[in-house]
Amino acid sequence: MSKILIRGAKVLGGEPQDVLIDGETITRTGTGIEAGDATVIEAAGQILLPGLVDLHTHLREPGREDSETVLTGTKAAAVGGFTAVHAMANTFPVADTAGVVEQVWRLGKESGYCDVQPIGAVTVGLEGKQLAELGAMHDSAAGVKVFSDDGKCVDDAVIMRRALEYVKAFDGVVAQHAQEPRLTEGAQMNEGIVSAELGLGGWPAVAEESIIARDVLLAAHVGSRVHICHLSTAGSVEIVRWAKSKGWNVTAEVTPHHLLLTDELVRTYNPVYKVNPPLRTEADVMALREALADGTIDCVATDHAPHPHEDKDCEWAAAAMGMVGLETALSVVQQTMVDTGLLDWAGVADRMSARPAAIGRLEGHGRPVSAGEPANLTLVDPAYRGAVDPAGFASRSRNTPYEGRELPGRVTHTFLRGRATVVDGKLA
Ligand code: DOR
Ligand code: ZN
Ligand code: ZN
Repeated sequence: MSKILIRGAKVLGGEPQDVLIDGETITRTGTGIEAGDATVIEAAGQILLPGLVDLHTHLREPGREDSETVLTGTKAAAVGGFTAVHAMANTFPVADTAGVVEQVWRLGKESGYCDVQPIGAVTVGLEGKQLAELGAMHDSAAGVKVFSDDGKCVDDAVIMRRALEYVKAFDGVVAQHAQEPRLTEGAQMNEGIVSAELGLGGWPAVAEESIIARDVLLAAHVGSRVHICHLSTAGSVEIVRWAKSKGWNVTAEVTPHHLLLTDELVRTYNPVYKVNPPLRTEADVMALREALADGTIDCVATDHAPHPHEDKDCEWAAAAMGMVGLETALSVVQQTMVDTGLLDWAGVADRMSARPAAIGRLEGHGRPVSAGEPANLTLVDPAYRGAVDPAGFASRSRNTPYEGRELPGRVTHTFLRGRATVVDGKLA
């Protein structure tokens, strides 16, 4: 097996250190480590983080291979510094059986660019009517522990209660896409001043907040774990903060785009900004940043949602919802959280690796950068500045809201169990 010496990297943003990788494992950390027969990577000025973990990725396979495949999605993940992603269940067919989650799991193994942990659907066909075979998906080779109808809300309180009860048996978690369906009928963007001025159907904050309030109460009642996907409003933050103060088992994620972009962008009518949940207001953005900094929001999750151009490059009302995010996530977090002084790099490692791995009960990821640990690592050049060019994406889709925008930082290397998947910013 090959040896690699990463020389002089700031581990978690701290003092420069050398990190020796032998085979799949970190074998030494410290200063002045002799290279011997190891390949040396000079990393002065760079930050070394544990490999990033995404709790919320749409890989689209099976069924929508025109927008992404497990292979192209895991390549995009590696470029973004991720060593593990959780694959959302809203595929065609839906990942609501052991057979489909095993298929995704197998495709992930074959890809080799990053680990793929399938998420199982909560209900059959994401229809919200009948519980899917949660136990069989958990017991399958895929070992599913996270269940979500993402894209749709589990709006029936009894179904949600049953799902929470069911997953408790094996320490699973239900990840809720919180969107009260009746309150968001015909909704096109955030409900507020901008939607009123544009005359577009509004998506009120209460549609998200009412479901979160219900679900944290249900999780407390059942004594189970609930995870809230892509928090987008200041009110949602308040409810999660309250639930955590009660000691309830509630976790939450925020997307990079909700940390940076606001509904003012919808004035352009460019559907690249159409996303679910919608871009909110500046006040919401600031509340989300603060909550991620103080730990009320546990982690960043990309909600990488690739769509082919024919589904996005059309009139606003007809366009699909979602944006790609894997390849820009860390840069957006650097800009919004690190460069603003809200979070240090150790905090980034926590929110983008340790905590998402812990929520998903994912083994071998989100570990400390120390001897004996699997060499899942990401090396970042924080001084890099460059405009986003979607033509260079590894993802099959191009629907980024950051085209032409200058973002800080770049992943130079990603290591998956000691094997470089990205070298000098390019897929290996
Ligand atoms: O914008 C979104 N796109 N939000 C979701 O919840 C689903 C996702 C998708 O699958 O495209
Ligand atoms: Zn969602
Ligand atoms: Zn999603």
